[in-house]
Amino acid sequence: MRALPGLRGPRGPTPGLLPFLCLLAAARPSLADGSDPDSPFTSLPVREEMMAKYSNLSLESHNISLTEHASMPIEKNITLDRPANIQLTCQLTTSRDLNSVNVTWKKGDELLENNYLINETGNILYTQYMFTIINSKQMGSYSCFFQEEKELRGTFHFKVPKLHGRNKPLISYVGDSTVLTCKCEGCFPLNWTWYSSNGSVQVPVGVQKNKCVMNGTYANETSLKITWLLEEDGGSYWCRALFQLGESEEHIELVVLSYLVPLKPFLAIVAEVVLLVTVILLCEKYTQKKQQHSDNEKEFEQIEQLKSDDSNGIENNAPRLRKTESAAQ
Ligand SMILES: *[C@@H]1O[C@H](CO)[C@@H](O)[C@H](O)[C@H]1NC(C)=O
Ligand SMILES: *[C@@H]1O[C@H](CO)[C@@H](O)[C@H](O)[C@H]1NC(C)=O
Ligand SMILES: *[C@@H]1O[C@H](CO)[C@@H](O)[C@H](O)[C@H]1NC(C)=O
Ligand SMILES: *[C@@H]1O[C@H](CO)[C@@H](O)[C@H](O)[C@H]1NC(C)=O
Ligand SMILES: *[C@@H]1O[C@H](CO)[C@@H](O)[C@H](O)[C@H]1NC(C)=O
Ligand SMILES: *[C@@H]1O[C@H](CO)[C@@H](O)[C@H](O)[C@H]1NC(C)=O
Ligand SMILES: *[C@@H]1O[C@H](CO)[C@@H](O)[C@H](O)[C@H]1NC(C)=O
Ligand SMILES: *[C@@H]1O[C@H](CO)[C@@H](O)[C@H](O)[C@H]1NC(C)=O
Ligand SMILES: *[C@@H]1O[C@H](CO)[C@@H](O)[C@H](O)[C@H]1NC(C)=O
Repeated sequence: MRALPGLRGPRGPTPGLLPFLCLLAAARPSLADGSDPDSPFTSLPVREEMMAKYSNLSLESHNISLTEHASMPIEKNITLDRPANIQLTCQLTTSRDLNSVNVTWKKGDELLENNYLINETGNILYTQYMFTIINSKQMGSYSCFFQEEKELRGTFHFKVPKLHGRNKPLISYVGDSTVLTCKCEGCFPLNWTWYSSNGSVQVPVGVQKNKCVMNGTYANETSLKITWLLEEDGGSYWCRALFQLGESEEHIELVVLSYLVPLKPFLAIVAEVVLLVTVILLCEKYTQKKQQHSDNEKEFEQIEQLKSDDSNGIENNAPRLRKTESAAQ
């Protein structure tokens, strides 16, 4: 780590290279035009060369703003599914002498020596790191560190898109057909693959007769159609999307019920009704008997009270009984 030099600029290139690079920059003004006019940074020729090489890639620009009083690091998730030019900017607003602030960049725990810029305007210190992500190894976390009396950190997490399946199990019946779907927002996977479980191993879907992978309407979705469901078709399924910069997976649970199972709640309801009717009849009988023995109004009210308490108790218990029964399936 070095203190800020008088001349704000790149940390990477050797001092001898700098005038040469400046010459290059002067000789190639057309390339420098591509940079953001609002940026406080002057372009760096090396980066312009890099950008020219990958100029057909899109530019992803992200920033994090830190203040000296920030107690927590600031983190940002960035979703990326294809190669891109990346421009990361961290800015620190501080009342301190900016020259006493050390700036570093890291990918994970690894120090990034080259290619970042530092600039200051007023009491704001900017640092910018520019690079190109072309493969999955370059995904991960990039952090800027400002070291004054305590260390301040901003982190950019690069991830491939997340898939959306369903978080609840999909429930179907034997003999029916069902469709499992997976999608991701604004993504374009190279391809999709479906897996089912055989014990604890993932087996690619495709060999089984009753399963058919269907192309979605758009590249951002896929479906797996399963016809003539058997009980053994139940279990775990996964869809996996392959992106240029990695892959992403989602789990879907399929529950296949036999037709007896849906009848069970119905039978439970019938049993409840029978029970309820029996209890009411018994109560009625009991009340009539009591009434014959005594005409006391108070007593009658108490029994009336007792009766409604009883039936309430049953109504509260009954649905619970049903639930646990179906959960046990
Ligand atoms: C910044 O780095 C220099 C050199 O490594 C060191 O002497 C200085 O104490 C550091 N400053 C702070 C505030 O950490
Ligand atoms: C720093 O930013 C100012 C304006 O924001 C700009 O004029 C200056 O050229 C920049 N310096 C460097 C070294 O990028
Ligand atoms: C960008 O250009 C490079 C080489 O010029 C080429 O290999 C790559 O396929 C291009 N990418 C796109 C997305 O056009
Ligand atoms: C930082 O990014 C946000 C949007 O992500 C944008 O509105 C803002 O202008 C950016 N700030 C700077 C200093 O680039
Ligand atoms: C970033 O992603 C992680 C894990 O996916 C999540 O826990 C975190 O809340 C996300 N952060 C933001 C700022 O969205
Ligand atoms: C998938 O892509 C289509 C067309 O590009 C779009 O209309 C649709 O909203 C996308 N779906 C998701 C979940 O992003
Ligand atoms: C998906 O694409 C990768 C690379 O192009 C290939 O290795 C893999 O076999 C493909 N998978 C399917 C199911 O087509
Ligand atoms: C599941 O595994 C068993 C033994 O490991 C094997 O005999 C069977 O063919 C497999 N089933 C499928 C559908 O791959
Ligand atoms: C799905 O799409 C791929 C390529 O996009 C194509 O090769 C395949 O024939 C399609 N399958 C179906 C069932 O349409």
